[in-house]
Amino acid sequence: MCGIFAYLNYNVNRERRYILEVLFNGLRRLEYRGYDSAGISIDSSLPPLISDHSNGPSCNCPPPLVFRQEGNIESLVKSVYEDVAATDLNLEESFSVHAGIAHTRWATHGEPAPRNSHPQSSGPGNEFLVIHNGVITNYEVLKETLVRHGFTFESETDTEVIPKLAKFVFDKANEEGDQTVTFSQVVFEVMRHLEGAYALIFKSSHYPNELIACKRGSPLILGVKELTQDENIAASFQDVKFLSNNGQPKELFLSSDASAVVEHTKKVLVIEDGEVVHLKDGDVSILKFDHGKGKHSGAFARPASVQRALSILEMEVEQINKGNYEHYMQKEIHEQPESLKTTMRGRLIRGDSSKSKTVLLGGLKDHLKTIRRSRRIVFIGCGTSYNAALAARPILEELSGMPVTMEIASDLLDRQGPIYREDTSVFVSQSGETADTLHALEYALENGALCVGITNTVGSAIARNTHCGVHINAGCEIGVASTKAYTSQIVVMAMLALAIGGDTISSESRREAIIDSLFDLPNKVREVLKLDQEMKDIAQLLIAEQSLLVFGRGYNYATALEGALKVKEVALMHSEGILAGEMKHGPLALVDETLPIVVIATRDACFSKQQSVIQQLHARKGRLIVMCSKGDAASVCVGGSCRVIEVPQVEDCLQPVINIVPLQLLAYHLTVLRGYNVDQPRNLAKSVTTQ
Ligand code: F6R
Repeated sequence: MCGIFAYLNYNVNRERRYILEVLFNGLRRLEYRGYDSAGISIDSSLPPLISDHSNGPSCNCPPPLVFRQEGNIESLVKSVYEDVAATDLNLEESFSVHAGIAHTRWATHGEPAPRNSHPQSSGPGNEFLVIHNGVITNYEVLKETLVRHGFTFESETDTEVIPKLAKFVFDKANEEGDQTVTFSQVVFEVMRHLEGAYALIFKSSHYPNELIACKRGSPLILGVKELTQDENIAASFQDVKFLSNNGQPKELFLSSDASAVVEHTKKVLVIEDGEVVHLKDGDVSILKFDHGKGKHSGAFARPASVQRALSILEMEVEQINKGNYEHYMQKEIHEQPESLKTTMRGRLIRGDSSKSKTVLLGGLKDHLKTIRRSRRIVFIGCGTSYNAALAARPILEELSGMPVTMEIASDLLDRQGPIYREDTSVFVSQSGETADTLHALEYALENGALCVGITNTVGSAIARNTHCGVHINAGCEIGVASTKAYTSQIVVMAMLALAIGGDTISSESRREAIIDSLFDLPNKVREVLKLDQEMKDIAQLLIAEQSLLVFGRGYNYATALEGALKVKEVALMHSEGILAGEMKHGPLALVDETLPIVVIATRDACFSKQQSVIQQLHARKGRLIVMCSKGDAASVCVGGSCRVIEVPQVEDCLQPVINIVPLQLLAYHLTVLRGYNVDQPRNLAKSVTTQ
């Protein structure tokens, strides 16, 4: 988790206040990645313009300033301006070159507190400062070594070893008379000792106006904004190993993801594992780190530059604003008719004849034969993404005729469960960066399985490292609780089932019905969203409850799990999704006239069984909220009192897309009414990049 962000302006005058605001805004965009504490570093006064190290790298620059604060970004903003006001620091001071770094934290090692916030420092004078997303697994060994060399540690973080190691490497080079050691060489030497996952940004008083970023496992992108009208120059950057200076004014951004960059520029580079980005004198050099090579043998290794191309972001700034909504979760729930359309755009073909109704998934077309020949399909994911796969499992089994099994990524790894080269393993992940899912992917690749990615994040680790895949194109999801990504994931997996099922005659009418229903799905979601006020009323009734059970089965077992997950993670109310078929085997003991229970009983093959479940719950005076298909209220509530939520009916395999919407709304309203933070639930973060 954690979000890292850096801003470097080159040959363009920016006041300190402006620089601070760019850094704060970057953090606001990344806040969903962690919101326990935050920090920034800026320069205290103008460092030398040219970082010329011909007379040795050391610079008598004033130490960079570091501000760190427990709590969310706004607490940091407030404390920085208070600190600035208490000193003679001038917010209007202008910098023609300046490198600032910023971090928002989701605590892994050490409680949320200023000393554990980032930037972490090499010690007095802040000679090296580091911001980090990820976990350094061998930090204890490194710490012991550094302590033996006289370093003292202030924090409980794994990160603090990194700036201290950088100082150690830098001092050693100088002691050995290597006064020309560059910033990137120092970082390469540091990387050689690090194990674990990281995206790092380094700032150093020895290398003023320079920044270095590197990554292994955690995401990192570079954004480039040319402050020129001359598009020819910008275009020539498309395919060169570094962006040459030419004195061209520019602004450079480093960020955990695109949402913090898109308001400045759409020209980005997704940094690959093992790459080191060096921003210096207006140049961007991309260098490659190879763990096996570059061993320091008296002299520093001289890494080779890498040729990379900038790409253009498709994201729009409006996507990352709340618009007229109060919260991102609310906006994302209401966006679902549109996000589903985008997910299906260009992928569903409805020609003139019924035969021409088909599905096109470009990212899979060369692999469908291999998938059909595989021994089984294994879905792998975590949390909501796992639930989406569970919702799609029955239709995949039905149309493919293949065994489909489910794996929670962490559990697969804990058991080292069987994955065979004859398997197709499908990795479902909104962010494409979830550490558990990524490790399960590595495991499946090692075992020789065909690996398919279903993600919402173009260029994410899962998208890059799978053999093939489908982007769900749901648009940027910022609320920590996943909503629109869930429904788009189900739709993509339903399309996957159609694609794998191919054109078998026996299932032709079923396929057509599903495709017709897919076309109509955005309208039906628009219809179900009209339940907003009704769900708010129900939330009002449940506001003071301790617990909520959700019963579902068949296609809607996943809906029960996902509805309960939403309620528990944002409304902070205990909630459990229960397979209705298991009710008599234990959960029935909980039922009395006080405990609220949602039963999902929309029309499908399980309907009569759910009617019987409702009867049994009535018999125990259960306090029921029943979700049923429109017009079914009387038949689901026979002989008892219950609150009914009527939803539009669609093809059974797509019904989970409809049925989750009222439960998303319920979780949303319950949270607001209970006074909790909807978009940033306690202790959670959007991208879980640690195991
Ligand atoms: C819940 C939620 C999480 C994620 C899970 C996996 O609302 O968002 O359960 O679904 O952390 O994340 P991704 O899908 O990014 O792999």
